[in-house]
Amino acid sequence: MDKNMAAFALGLLLFGLAGVGHSCLDPASAYRFVGAVCRLTYPAAVVLNEKTTEVIKAAFQHAKYPDIEGEKSMSFIGKLKYGLLNLEIHNLSIGKSEFELRENVGIGIDISNVSAVFKGTIKYSYGSALFTVGHSIDFEIESKIDLVINSKLYCGKGKVAADTSDCCLTFHKLKLLLQGDREPGWIKRIFTDIITFTMRLVVKGQICKEINKVADILAEFIQETAEEFLSDGDIRVDIGVTSAPVITSNYIESYHKGLVTYNGSTSVVNASVFNPDQLSEDRSLHFWISDDTLNPLMTAAYDDGRFIRNISGEDLRFLFQKELSAARPELLNKWLSSEEPLLKTWSASVPHLWTTTQGTSVKAVAAVELSSAKQDTPPVLYFETEVEVVVRASYADKNLILNCTAVHISISKVSTSPDISESLNAYLQEAVEKIGVAKVISYLEPELTALMNEQGLHLFDLINPEVTPQNGYVLIQMDFGFPHHLLVEFLRKTLD
Ligand SMILES: *[C@@H]1O[C@H](CO)[C@@H](O)[C@H](O)[C@H]1NC(C)=O
Ligand SMILES: *[C@@H]1O[C@H](CO)[C@@H](O)[C@H](O)[C@H]1NC(C)=O
Ligand SMILES: *[C@@H]1O[C@H](CO)[C@@H](O)[C@H](O)[C@H]1NC(C)=O
Ligand SMILES: *[C@@H]1O[C@H](CO)[C@@H](O)[C@H](O)[C@H]1NC(C)=O
Ligand SMILES: *[C@@H]1O[C@H](CO)[C@@H](O)[C@H](O)[C@H]1NC(C)=O
Ligand SMILES: *[C@@H]1O[C@H](CO)[C@@H](O)[C@H](O)[C@H]1NC(C)=O
Repeated sequence: MDKNMAAFALGLLLFGLAGVGHSCLDPASAYRFVGAVCRLTYPAAVVLNEKTTEVIKAAFQHAKYPDIEGEKSMSFIGKLKYGLLNLEIHNLSIGKSEFELRENVGIGIDISNVSAVFKGTIKYSYGSALFTVGHSIDFEIESKIDLVINSKLYCGKGKVAADTSDCCLTFHKLKLLLQGDREPGWIKRIFTDIITFTMRLVVKGQICKEINKVADILAEFIQETAEEFLSDGDIRVDIGVTSAPVITSNYIESYHKGLVTYNGSTSVVNASVFNPDQLSEDRSLHFWISDDTLNPLMTAAYDDGRFIRNISGEDLRFLFQKELSAARPELLNKWLSSEEPLLKTWSASVPHLWTTTQGTSVKAVAAVELSSAKQDTPPVLYFETEVEVVVRASYADKNLILNCTAVHISISKVSTSPDISESLNAYLQEAVEKIGVAKVISYLEPELTALMNEQGLHLFDLINPEVTPQNGYVLIQMDFGFPHHLLVEFLRKTLD
């Protein structure tokens, strides 16, 4: 199992619905270009919806309410000019938010019982040009609003985005309080009408605009976060979408390219085995990840020189304490008791990966060199070993666990003279199987866990994640809690 797989999975989780893609095909024709798929079912949407009110709240608070000017001709005073200035929102609270997945359409969101107090100042003047009276009154409006947003998911401009322009505000209450006693009653009556009417328009316009903007920014943020998560050094995964997402009454499914880019070249997915029947609707989140994505990831890691390791000192001595059935050759005993023995190992060819129902098989040739860290000493021994292992990955207590079984090990290119190589071969074969493979896994598990935690995986509440290998792809399924900190960070970055 490749280290980036879990990272990739989390990326998709964060990524959700948004993505960049250059072509937007209909889902059925896009299947063969799909490297990864994310199916988010209703229960996951419920978790995400818990955060909706915070986004809506931010939209209200962040909306800029422009100053408004107007005039009205009045028969008895002439022209009344007025301006509504310094509009501010106070004491915002949001009752509840509900949503619905609408098959082939989008996501309907109902926010009810938003209560807020708007405060501002009215400046006005009236009378003829010769005799103008200017005044100002502070006002306060108590309001109760329901908000309905019918967001549509579409694929356009190379991106899947949420169109929230179908946004409707209903005012249940709009109570105006004018401060100050000096103004005549008729002025108050006129302004009651003007302000009530204007506020409906302004609040609707600004709130809906802001929600649209926040939705856009949120999509971008999620995408950037996901891409950052998936990038490690020079290795990048393009999780742009191949088509618009599919929406049923129970899930939203998005189709991603899963192309790996390294050193100026990009992998190809054009014969994907994906079929929607391969995913269930049992859990909150389902990821489908193709070997077509995992294999190039491993190749890129190889090209990037990730599969190189030196072992020395205590670590090395401890390694060879393990009892093997074959006796340790004298050559190795001498090397181990020499000054500063050093074991260098690296992948001697591009490793290859494929998944079956048994697990993910990895076939690689490792080169091993035993030498001394002291300069100018020639290597004691060099050999290569072809290893095929079957790995099953799992994730528990915030740790990646790799269960690895060796199915084939052979030794070649041993550098010593042929007369001792037969007994040496038998020893090396056993050592690779019982020491080498376990050692590699013991490095990989904590390092990959740490790498994923660096990207924030441990902050997610992943509930009973399951990794299921299938022919040509891996399924990762889980329930989850949305990391509150991520939303807070987003709102802070975006709105401050
Ligand atoms: C906001 O609520 C607090 C506490 O309920 C209250 O004291 C304050 O007057 C309210 N502000 C406005 C502008 O209504
Ligand atoms: C609306 O909110 C107010 C106070 O915020 C609460 O008293 C009332 O029960 C809520 N109504 C509904 C329908 O949720
Ligand atoms: C990057 O690609 C260039 C050109 O194909 C090649 O010469 C170079 O060796 C590659 N570098 C690595 C680190 O793979
Ligand atoms: C898929 O991509 C490979 C590599 O670019 C290419 O050789 C092959 O012809 C493509 N197959 C199809 C069906 O497009
Ligand atoms: C391994 O040790 C050699 C010195 O023998 C050093 O040149 C090399 O950088 C080391 N590699 C790693 C990955 O530590
Ligand atoms: C590892 O996999 C083997 C073979 O599938 C299985 O027998 C064993 O119980 C697994 N070990 C752990 C710790 O999961």
